[in-house]
Amino acid sequence: MSLLRFGSMLLLLLLFGHSLGAPGSFSLDYQKDCFRKDGEEFRYISGSIHYSRIPRVYWKDRLLKMYMAGLNAIQVYIPWSYHEEFPDRYDFSGDRDLEHFLQLAQDIGLVVILRAGPYICAEWDMGGLPAWLLKKKDIVLRTSDPVYLKAVDRWMGKLLPMMKPFLYQNGGPIITVQVENEYGSYFACDFNYMYHLTQLFRSHLGEEVVLFTTDGPTLSYLKCGAIKGLYTTVDFGPGENVTAAFDAQRHAEPHGPLVNSELYTGWLDHWGSRHSVMSSARVAKSLNEILALGANVNMYMFIGGTTFGYWNGANDPYASQPTSYDFDAPLTEAGDLTEKYFAIREVIKMYHKIPAGPIPPTTPKYAYGTVGLKKLQVLSDALEILSLSGPIKSKYPQTFIELNQAFGYVLYRTSLPVNCSTPTPLSSPLNGVHDRAYVSVDGVAVGILERNKVITVNVTGKAGSQVDILVENMGRINYGKNINDFKGLVSNLTLGKDTLTGWTMYSLNIDEAVSQGLLGETKPKDPPKPPALSLPTFYGGSFIIPAGIPDLPQDTYIKLPKWRKGQVWINGFNLGRYWPARGPQVTLFVPANILSTAAPNNVTVLELEEAPCSSGPCSVEFTATPILNATVQSDCKQQRRLFIRDDLL
Ligand SMILES: *[C@@H]1O[C@H](CO)[C@@H](O)[C@H](O)[C@H]1NC(C)=O
Ligand SMILES: *[C@@H]1O[C@H](CO)[C@@H](O)[C@H](O)[C@H]1NC(C)=O
Ligand SMILES: *[C@@H]1O[C@H](CO)[C@@H](O)[C@H](O)[C@H]1NC(C)=O
Ligand SMILES: *[C@@H]1O[C@H](CO)[C@@H](O)[C@H](O)[C@H]1NC(C)=O
Ligand SMILES: *[C@@H]1O[C@H](CO)[C@@H](O)[C@H](O)[C@H]1NC(C)=O
Ligand SMILES: *[C@@H]1O[C@H](CO)[C@@H](O)[C@H](O)[C@H]1NC(C)=O
Repeated sequence: MSLLRFGSMLLLLLLFGHSLGAPGSFSLDYQKDCFRKDGEEFRYISGSIHYSRIPRVYWKDRLLKMYMAGLNAIQVYIPWSYHEEFPDRYDFSGDRDLEHFLQLAQDIGLVVILRAGPYICAEWDMGGLPAWLLKKKDIVLRTSDPVYLKAVDRWMGKLLPMMKPFLYQNGGPIITVQVENEYGSYFACDFNYMYHLTQLFRSHLGEEVVLFTTDGPTLSYLKCGAIKGLYTTVDFGPGENVTAAFDAQRHAEPHGPLVNSELYTGWLDHWGSRHSVMSSARVAKSLNEILALGANVNMYMFIGGTTFGYWNGANDPYASQPTSYDFDAPLTEAGDLTEKYFAIREVIKMYHKIPAGPIPPTTPKYAYGTVGLKKLQVLSDALEILSLSGPIKSKYPQTFIELNQAFGYVLYRTSLPVNCSTPTPLSSPLNGVHDRAYVSVDGVAVGILERNKVITVNVTGKAGSQVDILVENMGRINYGKNINDFKGLVSNLTLGKDTLTGWTMYSLNIDEAVSQGLLGETKPKDPPKPPALSLPTFYGGSFIIPAGIPDLPQDTYIKLPKWRKGQVWINGFNLGRYWPARGPQVTLFVPANILSTAAPNNVTVLELEEAPCSSGPCSVEFTATPILNATVQSDCKQQRRLFIRDDLL
C-alpha cells in the first residue's frame, strides 16, 4: 500500500465512524481451562456498567475510571424496551447510542461482554422486555409463545447485525455474548425457546463468537439454565462458598474457564426498605479468592448509575426500586471514586498490571441552594394539556396497555352511583390497583390505594359525585414468574357491594406537556386545606447558574424536604421518582448536562400526596451530597421474603 493511500485510509477512518481494530480471535480453551485471545491465554476482570443509566457525556469518564481500576473488560446489558419503545420503531440515538458506547470502550482498551437479552432482569421495567408485548393478554414471556418469538426475532434481527462488526473476530471489542439471563431461575424451563435463541444468535453472529449463559450457582438453577451450545457460567456474591459455586459450574462444564458473571459489589434497594450496603473488605476478600483460583470475574455493578424517568423495575411480592441505582458500587451513582474502588484496585494489582497514569478525579458537585416553587395546576384541571388523545370511555376499567400507554400515570374517572351519606368502602377486592392510586371525590382528596397494601378507602358523597382515581405505574416486575405486570386498574373496583362502571379514562402524556412548558400558573381557587392530603398537583420554579464561578454548571443533587411522593423534571428531563416519605432515597442525582447557563433552569414537580406548602411558600434544595440511606417508613419484614439471592449477602 502506498503511503498516500495509507494516509487517506487513515483519514477516512478518522472521519467516518468506527475505527475498529484488526480482526482477532477469541475462544474457549477446554484443554487449558481458559479463554484464548489472539492465541494467548486470557483472563478477564470485568465490571458491569449500564449505558442506559448514565448520561452519554459521562460514558468516557466512567469507562476510563474502570480501566484505571485495572479492569480489562466491561459487561453491558441491552434493555430492549429502551431501544424499541414502540413496535418496530428503533432508537439508538443520544443516550441510547450503543455503538458509540462500544466504540468508547474499545478506544479506552476494554473488551466487552455483551448481555444481549432479550430478557435482562437488571432492575429495569419488565426486565427489559417492552410493555407492548402485553397487548397479547395471555402471552407467555420468555418461552416459545409464537407472538413473543416473532417480536424477539424482529428485535434481534435489528440488534445483532448491528453488533456483528463489533465482535472481536471482526475487529471490535465484544469477546462474548450472553443469551437470555438466568433462565434457570424462571418457571418455564422451555428448552425449545433457548434452542431457538441459540440458533437465532448463531445465524446473525456466526459460528465463532463465544455464546454463554449465566445462572445461580447450584444444580437446581443449572437444570434449566445450562444449554447445549452455550457456555455455562455462574453468578454469586461475597459470602458464597467459592469452591462450591465453581463446582456447580464444573458440573455443567467439566472443562473450560471458570467464570463468575456477577460478583455483587453491593445490592439493590426498594422503597421502604433499608439501603443496601456491602463492606469493601467483603468484596475485596471474595474478589481475591476468585482471582487466586485463576477464574474470570465480572463485578456487578462497578457503577450502578441512575434509573431516570419511569424505567425502574420492581420485585415480587410487589416492591418497586427507587430512582437511584447506586448499588453501593465502587463508583457511586455520580461516578465518584470510593474506598471500595481503591480496595478492589489493590486486589487486582496482585494479579494484573495496573495501567499507569492518573485516575480521572471525582467530578465536582455544586450546591445551587434553595429554589422556590409556585403551585402551577392541579393535575385534574389540566387534562386538556396532558391528555392529547382525549378521554376513552368504557363500562369497565381498561389497563394502561389497552389504552396504549406504557408508563407514567392514567386518570380513571367515574361517578358515585348511589348516595354515600355514611363512609362507604371503595375497594379493589382483587388487589388490582397497579400500583398506587390517588383517589378524590368531587375535587377533594380522600385517600390512597396501594397494591398489596391498601385495597380500601372510604368515601362519602352524593350520587353523581365525580370520582377521580389517578393511577401510577411504579415500574413493572422484572424478576420471577409475574413479569406480565399489567398496569392501571387491572380489575374492577367496587363501591360497597356494587361494581363501579361507566369509566372515562385519560391517558396522560405528562412528559410532553412538561418539556413544552405547557403547565402555567393558575390563580388559587380554594383556601388552603389542612395538610392531610391534596389533589395531585404540579409545582414549578426556576434557578440561574451563578455567574463568575468557573466550571459551572456542575452536577448536583435535588432534595425535596417534606415533600411526600411524586415525579420531578428539570428542563423537561424526567429525573425520576422521589419518595422521601418512605425512603431510603432522599436526593436525586442531577447531571450537569441537563442544566443550562443560557436560560433559567426550570424545575417541575408533580406532587401526588401533599406539598409542604399548601399554606405558604414551597421550595426544593440543590445540595452537593447525596442521601440514599434514610428509611422513614420501613417494610423490612417484606424484604426478607423478596429474593432468594438476598441470602447470599
Ligand atoms: C465449601 O464447599 C466445599 C465443596 O462443596 C466444601 O468442601 C467446603 O467444606 C465448603 N467450605 C465451607 C467453609 O463451607
Ligand atoms: C340521593 O339523595 C337525595 C337527597 O339527598 C335524593 O334526592 C336522591 O334521590 C338520592 N339519590 C339516589 C340515587 O339515591
Ligand atoms: C370505613 O368506615 C367504616 C365505618 O365508619 C370503618 O369501620 C372502617 O374502618 C373504615 N375503613 C377504612 C379503610 O377507613
Ligand atoms: C369487571 O366485571 C365484569 C363483570 O363481571 C367483567 O366482565 C369484567 O371483565 C371485569 N373487568 C375487569 C377489568 O376485571
Ligand atoms: C425555562 O422556561 C422558560 C419559559 O418557558 C424558557 O424561556 C427557558 O428557555 C426554559 N429554560 C430552559 C433551560 O429550557
Ligand atoms: C447514611 O450514610 C452516611 C454516609 O455514608 C452515614 O454517615 C450515615 O450514618 C448513614 N445513615 C444511616 C441512617 O445509616
